[in-house]
Amino acid sequence: MRTKKVTVLPYDKGWKDDFAAIQKELVSAIGELILGIEHVGSTSVEGLSAKPCIDIDVVLPDYSVFDEAVRRLAAIGYQYEGDLGIPHRHALAYRDKPHLQTHHLYLCPQFSPELHRHITFRDYLRTHPEAVKEYSAVKEEAARLFPDDINRYIQYKSPCIQKIYTLCGLNGPAEAKGSPTMKKIIAVNGSPRTAWNTAQLIRKAAEGAQSAGAEIKVYDLYQLEPFSGCVSCFGCKLQPNLGKCVCRDGLSQLLEDIRTADGLILGSPNYLSDITAGLRALYERLVFQYITYKKEPRSYNDRLIPVLFVMTSNASAEMYDRIGYTAKLESYQSMLGRLVGETKVLVSADTLQVNDYDRYDWTSFDPEAKKRRHETVFPTELDAAFELGKEMVLSPWQK
Ligand SMILES: Cc1cc2nc3c(=O)[nH]c(=O)nc-3n(C[C@H](O)[C@H](O)[C@H](O)COP(=O)(O)O)c2cc1C
Repeated sequence: MRTKKVTVLPYDKGWKDDFAAIQKELVSAIGELILGIEHVGSTSVEGLSAKPCIDIDVVLPDYSVFDEAVRRLAAIGYQYEGDLGIPHRHALAYRDKPHLQTHHLYLCPQFSPELHRHITFRDYLRTHPEAVKEYSAVKEEAARLFPDDINRYIQYKSPCIQKIYTLCGLNGPAEAKGSPTMKKIIAVNGSPRTAWNTAQLIRKAAEGAQSAGAEIKVYDLYQLEPFSGCVSCFGCKLQPNLGKCVCRDGLSQLLEDIRTADGLILGSPNYLSDITAGLRALYERLVFQYITYKKEPRSYNDRLIPVLFVMTSNASAEMYDRIGYTAKLESYQSMLGRLVGETKVLVSADTLQVNDYDRYDWTSFDPEAKKRRHETVFPTELDAAFELGKEMVLSPWQK
């Protein structure tokens, strides 16, 4: 077995500067070819204990710039090593850079699943201090137990990582691992952003369900692409697939999971006075498959489950009645209630849309008020989401 000294250190603020120094060199070599340089891995999360090695993913728009990027990086001392068995994540090694902190450098096209995994994991930790605390403790203990055996160190911390992956949605399509009697709750983030308002609220609701003993599966809808809305094939109205969408694409597994779930959490930002195109596609496929086009029975679904529908928006809650959002939500609530199960709605309005309002020429918002609201009101909405997730399991509103 390969052995190597394992050193885990408490979080060091200097890692940010170490990253910035490496980033500066990279930008001067390949800045105009790339979309960005991401500090990933444990040193990128404030408060997290880590091996003192800076992990860096350089984001490429696509492979058209790959050869040129490799050529320019070679000119500043990085040798291309191949993908080392991980598709769309290309490693580069260096020998002599004593002025820079030890680092791992990778080139990833923007669609790279590995890049997505790194960023989702990092962003989840950056917004969940309790997970940082737990993961730090596990890493420190692993290093204490196996200081000379990197493989056993990795093995020891793996269950903790898997737990966080489930919470981030990175284990989404995997099979539920709970006991057969354990309730299964599916949560779907209908925002293309995987770490912002909607994502955080639906994850909190899922955590609430988990705290009540449920097995949870969190999906980031836009990671399931390609998929479409209903294609009007009517396969769900024909034997042997009555009530079952037969269209095969990125939504198939999710629809199958919902079919056997004990509760469903759906979340969407308001996009142009409605839900996002992605969630609308899921909604069409989910709901239409159950419609019989008959007087009796009206639905093929006789297994109704509690549904929590989360909407986030720029508009404030006071505006909802006047601008038609309340009516819109009631219409989703009514359709879902009839065909999927009784639906509760949670609204998070007047959300923080970006961290750095100064960069944009936006005059409609008061950035300070937005920040204040995010710091004071948003946490109470996260709490409400947690409680609703818990309630969904302990006293489901759809019996
Ligand atoms: C394409 C697009 C359209 C939007 N349209 C609306 C809208 O009509 N009304 C509104 O209140 N907010 C609108 N917003 C703002 C988002 O709903 C709001 O920022 C939301 O909280 C973002 O969710 P997220 O942080 O989970 O991505 C829009 C945002 C985008 C990107």
